[in-house]
Amino acid sequence: MPRFLYLTFASLALLSSQAMADGLKIAVIGAGNVGGTLGTLWAQAGHPVMFSSRHPEELTDLVKAAGANARVGSVSEAATWADVIVLSVPYGAMPVVAEQLKGAFQGKVVLSASNPFSGRDGDTGRKALAQGVALADQQYLPGAHLVRAFNAIGYASMKGQSGKGKAIPTFADDAQAREMGARLVRDAGFVPVLLPLSKANDGLPGGPLSGVLTEAQIREKSGH
Ligand SMILES: NC(=O)c1ccc[n+]([C@@H]2O[C@H](COP(=O)([O-])OP(=O)(O)OC[C@H]3O[C@@H](n4cnc5c(N)ncnc54)[C@H](OP(=O)(O)O)[C@@H]3O)[C@@H](O)[C@H]2O)c1
Repeated sequence: MPRFLYLTFASLALLSSQAMADGLKIAVIGAGNVGGTLGTLWAQAGHPVMFSSRHPEELTDLVKAAGANARVGSVSEAATWADVIVLSVPYGAMPVVAEQLKGAFQGKVVLSASNPFSGRDGDTGRKALAQGVALADQQYLPGAHLVRAFNAIGYASMKGQSGKGKAIPTFADDAQAREMGARLVRDAGFVPVLLPLSKANDGLPGGPLSGVLTEAQIREKSGH
């Protein structure tokens, strides 16, 4: 192998083991009920977190409350800076976010807590529900290692049940997405139960895997 290639691989391996040791740089795109809650849990677990939305100037109180690991930035800044991107926007915003961040998802783990609703999210929501939410996500997020998690537990329970042994269905297929997804769920204070993306519609609100569940309940309901 040419020496410069070896050095590149070695530096990448070093970088990623550094990220594992120091904390993951997490971009939270959509810093409302869900993004604000999850981002705060991760910041308090020691990860550097950048909150973003279309109005980052409105996020100062959130950043202050989340503590020293939290900061604020524009959507593009956050996505470029991050090791991992978390999407917690109304699903109707997905086409706009996809267009704005074209290319930024390539090779990154993207965890989506965003859910399509036919009423709230119009045609975008209806299409995603019919097609399957994970397939729809993959069209909006080309090149991403997709994880879907925290989709059907209310944001108040994300905070209130953190650290209490409850589990989160964590939908992912490839190894990187499964590993990072499980880590993010654990670091928010929950037990990850890994399931294939093909089951992701079961993890939508009102689906069989919605609510505050234990690992045993998720395994029984999902058959995994
Ligand atoms: N609420 C729950 O308990 C719950 C639980 C699980 C999953 N979910 C899902 O999680 C997602 C977020 O729900 P939520 O309750 O957190 O909503 P929310 O409180 O309304 O927060 C949405 C956030 O997205 C931002 N946003 C909207 N459009 C955007 C865009 N184009 N680019 C960047 N940021 C944008 C909003 O800020 P700006 O308007 O300032 O941009 C806001 O910070 C939804 O898909 C929902 O179905 C919700």
